[in-house]
Amino acid sequence: MIYFDHNATTRCDERVVEAMAPYMGALYGNPSSLYKLGRFARTAIDTAREQLAALLDAPAERIVFTSGGTEANALALANARGKCLTISAIEHPSVFENAAAYRASYRDLRTGAVDSNGQISVDSLLDLDWQPGDFLSLMLANNETGAVQPVAEAVNRLSGFGVNVHTDAVQALGKMPLSFRQLGVTLLTVSSHKIYGPKGCGALVVAEGFNLSALQRGGDQEHGWRAGTENVAAIVGFGKAAELAKAEMEVRSAKLAKLRQRLEQRLKTIPGLVIFAETAERLPNTVQFGVAGLNGEMLLMQLDQHNIAVSSGSACSAASGEISPVLAAMGIAPDLAKSAIRVSLGKDNTETEIDRFVEVLIASLGIHQEI
Ligand SMILES: Cc1ncc(COP(=O)(O)O)c(C=O)c1O
Repeated sequence: MIYFDHNATTRCDERVVEAMAPYMGALYGNPSSLYKLGRFARTAIDTAREQLAALLDAPAERIVFTSGGTEANALALANARGKCLTISAIEHPSVFENAAAYRASYRDLRTGAVDSNGQISVDSLLDLDWQPGDFLSLMLANNETGAVQPVAEAVNRLSGFGVNVHTDAVQALGKMPLSFRQLGVTLLTVSSHKIYGPKGCGALVVAEGFNLSALQRGGDQEHGWRAGTENVAAIVGFGKAAELAKAEMEVRSAKLAKLRQRLEQRLKTIPGLVIFAETAERLPNTVQFGVAGLNGEMLLMQLDQHNIAVSSGSACSAASGEISPVLAAMGIAPDLAKSAIRVSLGKDNTETEIDRFVEVLIASLGIHQEI
């Protein structure tokens, strides 16, 4: 099978599975227990926190493990209650749906527009009224187009207003250099299963001095920020995946950039094909494209028959069959947006797979040409 949907999820690295195994077996202790078995689990969580902190360049003690990116985003946005929250028009549903759910608790909820390259302009954010303690939630890289957002610039230019910036870095993690300290954000969301770790595990990083209030209560785990017995095996797996991502990031990114260049060169020979956010700074693994008049979902199913897995947008909007809100926000015509296919490459993909994909794509489009 050719798997080109790494922005949806990744296969657990074998080395991650190996690291997790003891914690689903013999080392089953509750990390809150004081005897040895509990202390082993506690130490394993501490190690994972250090591993993630090293990848993120963040203080380990300011990392709270959650059940995934969705929960981390919900926790971040719950902390904007009582303030004005501004989000971009291309946020993941776990940001905009939680923001919508808490709408009544915010002083105001605003949505910032993006340009045709799927990027927000910081100048447009500066035109808005801000009060100290207000929140901006701006993703670091978009899950559909891969477009990188000017988060560091937003932090710098809004700092004078005392704005708290939250960034959803789920897609950026492991694919581009990322330093929590250098970004200067207040809150940062990450998820394990996008970096070859297990599903159901994520984290929120909380800046020093920010007084996070918990969303779920009932125990003092995770500094009281997230009650509930920890998912030890998954946290261990996330830590290991983070360690591997840090060690291998340069090699992985260089390989991905080369593969994507090969893919884009070939895609551009297809008449009428448009690459979305083409000239924006993008994640090295992501290409989203369309050909007006085509049905992206039908094409996806045709590719599936050839054992090729891609997405027609984000996994979430693919299921509902609606036009991607991200492409709509970029002003892409509905006819073109409906044809969207997202290819998101991973560390184990090969040139042969790229060539096979393009061959099948061209045949599926009914185009007869030499490539
Ligand atoms: C940008 C972004 N944020 C958040 C999430 C949600 O993360 P999780 O699947 O860990 O809940 C995703 C997952 O697709 C994502 O792409």
